[in-house]
Amino acid sequence: MDRKKFLKTCGMGLIGLPFASALLTSCESIYYATSSIKNNSLIVPLSEFEIVKKNTTTYRTFVLVKTSREDFPICLYKTGNNEYTAALMKCTHRGCELNVGGGIYSCPCHGSEFDTKGGVLEGPADQDLKTYKTSIQNENIYIELS
Ligand code: FES
Repeated sequence: MDRKKFLKTCGMGLIGLPFASALLTSCESIYYATSSIKNNSLIVPLSEFEIVKKNTTTYRTFVLVKTSREDFPICLYKTGNNEYTAALMKCTHRGCELNVGGGIYSCPCHGSEFDTKGGVLEGPADQDLKTYKTSIQNENIYIELS
């Protein structure tokens, strides 16, 4: 490979790197966690955030939880060490199911965006998402269903 062709190839690779990185960040796979319900709480084992492959353990940023009490899944999002937020994946604009990725919730219908605490980032939605109080007890995350 001559020098000019080599530089062109490397340059294209470097230009593509940030895009590939952003794409990977926003393409975390959707995983529905197993849960149980007790009294008024959804209980999700902390181990549901683990991805064990061969001898390596990595951790999911979020999991989705289905419950018969809501028509939409709840997203349980890890926001820090032992800190989780839980938000209903229902857009407050006209009720479409939200997507999660890239550290935000986004609506495929009209483009509203919400942060992982459920706050509106971008309209047309003008109300925050329904959120739930979370706590950790005995290796489980409790989502209070109110
Ligand atoms: S339903 Fe989500 S932005 Fe309209």
